[in-house]
Amino acid sequence: MEKIVVTGGTKLKGEVTIGGAKNSATAILPATILMSGKCTLENVPNISDIKIICNILESLGAKIDWIEQNKLTIDTSNISSSNAPLDKTSKFRASYYLVGALLGKYHSAEVGLPGGCNLGARPIDQHIKGFEALGATVEVEQGKISAKAKKLVGNSIYLDVVSVGATINLMLASVLAEGTTIIDNPAKEPHIVDVANFLNSVGADIRGAGTDSIKINGVKELKKEGTYSIVPDQIEAGTFMLSAVASKGDITIKNCITKHLESLTAKIVEMGANVEDIDGETIRVWCNSRPNKLNIKTLPHPGFPTDLQPQMGVVLSTANGTSIINESIWESRFQYTAELNKMGAKITAQGKTAVFEGVKKLYGSPVYSTDLRAGAALIIAAIAAEGTTEIYNLEYIDRGYENIEEKFRKLGANIKRVKE
Ligand code: EPZ
Repeated sequence: MEKIVVTGGTKLKGEVTIGGAKNSATAILPATILMSGKCTLENVPNISDIKIICNILESLGAKIDWIEQNKLTIDTSNISSSNAPLDKTSKFRASYYLVGALLGKYHSAEVGLPGGCNLGARPIDQHIKGFEALGATVEVEQGKISAKAKKLVGNSIYLDVVSVGATINLMLASVLAEGTTIIDNPAKEPHIVDVANFLNSVGADIRGAGTDSIKINGVKELKKEGTYSIVPDQIEAGTFMLSAVASKGDITIKNCITKHLESLTAKIVEMGANVEDIDGETIRVWCNSRPNKLNIKTLPHPGFPTDLQPQMGVVLSTANGTSIINESIWESRFQYTAELNKMGAKITAQGKTAVFEGVKKLYGSPVYSTDLRAGAALIIAAIAAEGTTEIYNLEYIDRGYENIEEKFRKLGANIKRVKE
């Protein structure tokens, strides 16, 4: 087993370059099934979730070659099965995109139910409602989702809940359907727009991604080849922005899209730290005083992202005053607060609300990552804390962050990964 050991008290300083978005790449890779051709993808994050989806796609018959650290080609022209193995798909959340892609392409899909971080119930009723609206029959039994359709016909679908997964999955299922599909009340995250941009770059006809309504005009087939670069990861960029505030440092974040970070930027300024948008793709964050308390409510984009909630919680743990976070998306995303309390924080989490009584500083302690973003938050806390912290359950962190300790080390952190 590995652990990350951090000796804290560092003010992070310097530059960091952001990688491709996990939540876009985990959808675009399955989406290449719709092409039945060869695609080159650039700025692909080299993380365990991506390795898992590549492994599943290869088991379906895809041919994948990593030609550089963050660049691969995928050839889906010889996919010979529409059954994705449960033992692999149950390892992570985004495996449900295989349903939309396989159903959209082959009118048949059998995919093991997704796993993923433990954030509470992870329902897929909106995905199923959408597939059925397109003419599919869907069954969920024995740990797998089976979807079949004689043909897929465009329809109007209103999502009861704003869902990233359902929005993307229904785009995938309707791209080759007959006629037009309208998705109302869709999610608008940057990765939704990125998936639509990718599909359009290989011949799909999707309009309105990122707005309150997405229109997909079904096409006969997609191109047999394409090249696409994954959008920079909004959440990785936000993670480093918050690490600058938590450590009272000064970090310039490169290769990001500052427009995607407006809700975070506003909150960082509100708490008394400093942000400078250099050129729309580079942002500088610095903080040399104790941040003021804040109230946060996580919301679908363009609201404050739930995936930055734990990282913001670290900053609020030592802010001046008492702060409140209302987690409106997930029912169980405050598990990290118990770990921060081991480090001297004074947080009371109850259901979807947590109260942070700001303390002067945090102290090193052995802590356990409970999910992907909680793990990143604990690293930030350890860097800012006094003393030494050991962080366990690194598999969560490795799902979504590439070389995270290397990136923090380059910013001055005293951090290393060691084998237990
Ligand atoms: C995606 O999860 C992300 N994961 C999550 O990021 C992120 O937290 C989430 O979107 C919200 O932004 C990936 O993209 C792989 P949802 P997803 O469907 O698609 C409810 C990370 O840290 N819901 O938008 O599973 C659901 O219970 C991960 O990178 C239904 O009720 O999230 C939740 O309350 C963690 N029925 C809300 O909607 C459904 O059919 C949002 O879920 C689907 C969802």
